[in-house]
Amino acid sequence: MRATRLSGIRVARRMDEVGFSDIVQIRNKVMAMRNEGKKVYSLHGGEPYFETPDDIKFAAVRALVENQTHYAPSSGLSPLREALVKKLAAKNHIQATTDQVIATVGGSQGLYAAFQVVLDPGDDALVFSPYWTPISDLITGTQARPLLVPTITARRNGIRKTLEQFATPKTRAIYYNTPQNPSGLVFTRAEALEVAAFALERDLIVIADEAYEDLVYDGEHVSIASLPGMAERTITCFTFSKTYGMTGWRAGYAVAHEPFMTAIRKVVLYSTNGVTTFVQHAMLQALATPESQIAAIRDEYRLRRDLLVKGLNEVGLECDPPAGAFYAFPNVEKIHKTSRTAAQILLDKAHIATIPGSVFGAQGEGHLRFGYAIPRQEIEDCVDSLRKFFV
Ligand SMILES: Cc1ncc(COP(=O)(O)O)c(C=O)c1O
Repeated sequence: MRATRLSGIRVARRMDEVGFSDIVQIRNKVMAMRNEGKKVYSLHGGEPYFETPDDIKFAAVRALVENQTHYAPSSGLSPLREALVKKLAAKNHIQATTDQVIATVGGSQGLYAAFQVVLDPGDDALVFSPYWTPISDLITGTQARPLLVPTITARRNGIRKTLEQFATPKTRAIYYNTPQNPSGLVFTRAEALEVAAFALERDLIVIADEAYEDLVYDGEHVSIASLPGMAERTITCFTFSKTYGMTGWRAGYAVAHEPFMTAIRKVVLYSTNGVTTFVQHAMLQALATPESQIAAIRDEYRLRRDLLVKGLNEVGLECDPPAGAFYAFPNVEKIHKTSRTAAQILLDKAHIATIPGSVFGAQGEGHLRFGYAIPRQEIEDCVDSLRKFFV
């Protein structure tokens, strides 16, 4: 008899379909190359180039010195939730009460909780593709199924019409990410209205991911929860990671109406029992950052975007300037038609680390993701290396 049949040493079946990030494997390869003394241009990452601003760090240190090291309410400190309510009203035009916001451990915990509280086993969730890789795992982790909707086709043929084609009777939710990772695409207000109309017509829940809300270079950021009739059927997830250079702090928040908020509170309570108390003090400080400071950072990213996109187009890797986030997603079939091989070639021959588009769903095949949240000099060096590679 095979040991596996006898053994109780196995994980719950629902974990079988949940994958582990390919991106980690690429990061490991880059580290191995560096250890061999090779120079590698790091365009595979998704982390801001700047350090967390000092006032935010000092707020955390102050909180530690003042012994803010005890349990906080698991949904977040009151002053933090009040500040979040103000921010949501001012910036996102989402009218919420303090009972409708919750601090989360990064945007990731908000998204994890959102999928957990909305999807039942056997449900379907529509996901515009290419999509941020963990999303399909967050969906399959609930024993539901992601239905990938090609974003380019949807934009060309009509968002609502395309969603109708891909939806099933079991469809319960739409994952709506703008600005998008990996493509940098920003949905327009008209497109947001179409998604909203579809959700209203089909009685669907929208899980909105606005991790890059502050990084829109062309057009505007529209929070779908601010559209008529949408607040009660949208769970919106935010993070401090990208705007404030706080990836390692694991700080985020979500906004939702009942019955979802009580359920999200349970997920947060039983997973982490809230966000680290002194980190919440840092979050409060981050929310006081003047908009002018955020705009200055956005300008820095715009410069990087323009440098990289110009360089990519110069060597024939066609790429329209992405309207938001900090990724370029050019077609690289000129290097190789399989994105995994193209990434490998670029890493070996030009020492440029990128992420193969296929990692972000079949619709990403033929593309590579270049993250440009890195020092300007590194982008210039990467472009030089690309030029040499293509001569
Ligand atoms: C689209 C998108 N959503 C959410 C997140 C979550 O970020 P974090 O968990 O660091 O807050 C990321 C991070 O890369 C992202 O790209």
